[in-house]
Amino acid sequence: MIVAASRHFLQLKDFSREDLDYLFQRTRTIKARFKSYQRYWPLQDRTLVMIFEKASTRTRLSFEAGMHQLGGSAIYLNTRDSQLGRGESVEDAAQVISRMSDIVMIRTFEQEIVERFASHSRVPVINGLTNQYHPCQLLADIFTYIEQRGPIQGRTVAWIGDSNNVCSTWLQAAEIFDFKVHVSTPPGYEVAAERADFHGADHFEQFADPVDAARGADLVTTDVWTSMGFEAENEVRLRDFADWQVDADLMRAAKADALFMHCLPAHRGQEVAAEVIDGVQSVVWDEAENRLHTQKALVEFLILGRLND
Ligand code: CP
Ligand code: NVA
Repeated sequence: MIVAASRHFLQLKDFSREDLDYLFQRTRTIKARFKSYQRYWPLQDRTLVMIFEKASTRTRLSFEAGMHQLGGSAIYLNTRDSQLGRGESVEDAAQVISRMSDIVMIRTFEQEIVERFASHSRVPVINGLTNQYHPCQLLADIFTYIEQRGPIQGRTVAWIGDSNNVCSTWLQAAEIFDFKVHVSTPPGYEVAAERADFHGADHFEQFADPVDAARGADLVTTDVWTSMGFEAENEVRLRDFADWQVDADLMRAAKADALFMHCLPAHRGQEVAAEVIDGVQSVVWDEAENRLHTQKALVEFLILGRLND
């Protein structure tokens, strides 16, 4: 049997600006239907397999609830209870899992694992977070910004903290949507030189002082100081990142109407002060909810292509 090549979503830049604009238009339709309790079941009899090698609340919940709401079903696998944790190769797992499902989402460690899985899969594969990227998060973040403030083109986003997977995905988003990211990290945690060169001065600038990064920003965002997989560094990081907290003083350097975002889970008193995440500029709950709506549009697009209804 000849199997047509599937489209995958392994990095944000796998999609063009036009694809992403379509996804956001579709997200608005799907969200409006959900909010008005309209049944919308385009994925009846379709199955999503979710593979988690790391913990999750939002990603699991939004994909699982989203599939049910689209009329399909979702199956959860983790490394602990499946053969994936007992040495079955990624390539063999991809062959088998993709013969029994219509789409796969994977949360794992190295980006290389999702790439190897995708190259042996008959069905679309979604990156649900790797050490390098978190593209589903950026779908929700950019959608939320546009929903709150209109186009993000020409705006300035301040990223304060670790230059981690979410930061790298913001840098890709800046290229695609033509905005600028100001990054401030503690010394030793800067954006890697090859990525810094790639993104160039139009879309990326690094600042030693977090207040300088936040100055004039339209959006201030941060993330945990210690990402999953880096727990052994936690104590050192708590010390190294102590001056990189987003607090009310830092928010005052940004524009008066600047938004605050955080992909969550958050640690109040570490990367963000309670007064900011629980304050009026914070849109973190809309941002989390939009994971559901944007990923429903993503799954629909990867399985059914572009729709007009
Ligand atoms: N933001 C995010 O991906 O959250 P989870 O780790 O809970 O899935
Ligand atoms: N950077 C964090 C994001 C969690 C959603 C991590 O990788 O743990």
